[in-house]
Amino acid sequence: MSEELKAHLEFFKELGIDGVRLEPEWRARHEPAEPIERIEPIEPTEPAPTEPIEPSEPIEPTEPIEPSEPIEPLAVYASAADALRAIRDDLGADCSRCKLHTLGRKQVVFGVGNPNADLMFVGEGPGADEDIQGEPFVGRAGQLLTKIIEAIGLTRDEVYIANVIKCRPPGNRNPEPDEVEQCQPFLFRQIDTVKPKVVVALGKFAAQCLLRTTDPITRIRGREFTYRDAILMPTYHPAYLLRTPSAKREVWEDMKRVRELLSGKS
Ligand code: URA
Repeated sequence: MSEELKAHLEFFKELGIDGVRLEPEWRARHEPAEPIERIEPIEPTEPAPTEPIEPSEPIEPTEPIEPSEPIEPLAVYASAADALRAIRDDLGADCSRCKLHTLGRKQVVFGVGNPNADLMFVGEGPGADEDIQGEPFVGRAGQLLTKIIEAIGLTRDEVYIANVIKCRPPGNRNPEPDEVEQCQPFLFRQIDTVKPKVVVALGKFAAQCLLRTTDPITRIRGREFTYRDAILMPTYHPAYLLRTPSAKREVWEDMKRVRELLSGKS
């Protein structure tokens, strides 16, 4: 079995899809039998593209974008871990910069993982499980993210995971502009400290925030953007995959490309 096919099957197995069929209609659009339930937090609803929007040619890390904030020289720390601790301290365990601290959040959810990771995932904001445990992506969507990470041969400990906003919005509503404005500088500092080679923006919200665009996720997913010192690739949010398992196929394509980028293939 070719390495490619083996990796492909392993990914689907990891994601709970136990086998493939050869009928063309299955390959064209397979919806694994998985209950489609609404889970929180909710990926902003956007229809999956009717046609996979894979570009026919390899995409170059094109489309340089202006960093959303000027990159300021960072204070010098002995290690990235120290620098992240300093950012966390600046943010504060009881941050009150926006109204979310009055709206029922239990704790600030900063970020987790390898301070020197080559790969960083950025989500939207903590959900109920994350709010309780104080760690990003630990609920159902997080468990799927963990499987996605493992499917490309990494562990959660080897990557860095953070969110655009660090406090849970009530009822898992979308973060509001004033909340994002207060919180996103801390994400930018996290990115500038970890210095990943690749940033994967999970879902519409993170992708639009980092890229300063209103383009729909269906248009920007799978594309490569030069972002600060990294390549940024938007892909679908794992919560969306839980509701729309057929979209796992596109995420697998994205993750294979991420794996290539990490291994130095252009
Ligand atoms: N969804 C997110 O965007 N972030 C989390 O931490 C969990 C779910």
